[in-house]
Amino acid sequence: MIIQTKNLWKTYGSGDTQVNALRGVDLTVNKGDFLALVGPSGCGKSTLLHMLGAMDTPSRGEIMLEGRELGKLGEGQLTDVRLERLGFIFQTFNLVPTLNALENVMLPMKFAGISRREAKQKALCLLDMVGLKERTRHLPAQMSGGQRQRVAIARALANDPALILADEPTGNLDSENSEKIMELLQNLNRKGRTIVMVTHNPELAERVNRVVYMKDGQLAELQRNTKDIQSA
Ligand SMILES: Nc1ncnc2c1ncn2[C@@H]1O[C@H](COP(=O)(O)OP(=O)(O)O)[C@@H](O)[C@H]1O
Ligand SMILES: [Mg+2]
Repeated sequence: MIIQTKNLWKTYGSGDTQVNALRGVDLTVNKGDFLALVGPSGCGKSTLLHMLGAMDTPSRGEIMLEGRELGKLGEGQLTDVRLERLGFIFQTFNLVPTLNALENVMLPMKFAGISRREAKQKALCLLDMVGLKERTRHLPAQMSGGQRQRVAIARALANDPALILADEPTGNLDSENSEKIMELLQNLNRKGRTIVMVTHNPELAERVNRVVYMKDGQLAELQRNTKDIQSA
C-alpha cells in the first residue's frame, strides 16, 4: 500500500455556506495501481486529490503515505514529501513560463538539492522519454498544450515519486493529444508507476486498472479491473 485515507472529511466554510466536500472517504491505493477517480463536477475529486498530495489538510480523518501519517508531519517534512515522494500533473500544466522545458524539469531536483549537472542529465533523459528531445530549449509558450503536458509529466517524475497525482490531465487537450498523454501515463504505469488520475471522462476510465466513483463527497462504488494492464 502506498497511500490510505481513513474516514476523511473536508468541510469548507461555516454556517449557511458550509460545504462538506468529503464525507468519510476510505481509500487505499496500492503500489502499481493506475486508479481513475471519476465523478460529476463538484463531487469532491480535486479536494480528495489535494489531500492525497499533502496540499491541503482534512477536517477530520487521517492519511497514511508510505507508513507515515501526514497529519503528524511538520511543515518542513510535508514540503519534502511533496517534493520527493509525490509528482503532480495539473489540467493547466502549471509550468513556469519564464523557464524552458529543460529548466522546468530541473526545478524540483534543484529544490531537492541535487547537483545541477546531475539534474540536467536526468531532465534530458526524462524529456527524451516523453518524446521532447528536440524541444528542451523551448519555453512553454512555444509549445503546444500536449507538449506542455509532456514537460509537466517529465517534471512530475523528476524526483522519482512513489505516487503520481493527476487532476484532469487531458482536460485542456484535444483528442489526439489526450490520446498521447493517456498512452504515456499507461506506459509509466506498466513500468511500475502508481498513478491516481482524476477525470470526468468515462472513456479514459476504461483504460486504467481501478475505477473509483465519487458522488457528493463519498466513494459511491469501488470497482472492477477493466483490464489487467499490469500483465500487458
Ligand atoms: N476552497 C474552497 N472553498 C469553498 N468551497 C470549496 C472550495 N474548494 C472546493 N469547494 C467546494 O467543495 C465541493 C467539491 O469541490 P471539488 O473538490 O473541486 O470538486 P470536483 O473536483 O469533483 O469538481 C464543491 O461543492 C466546491 O464548490
Ligand atoms: Mg476538480
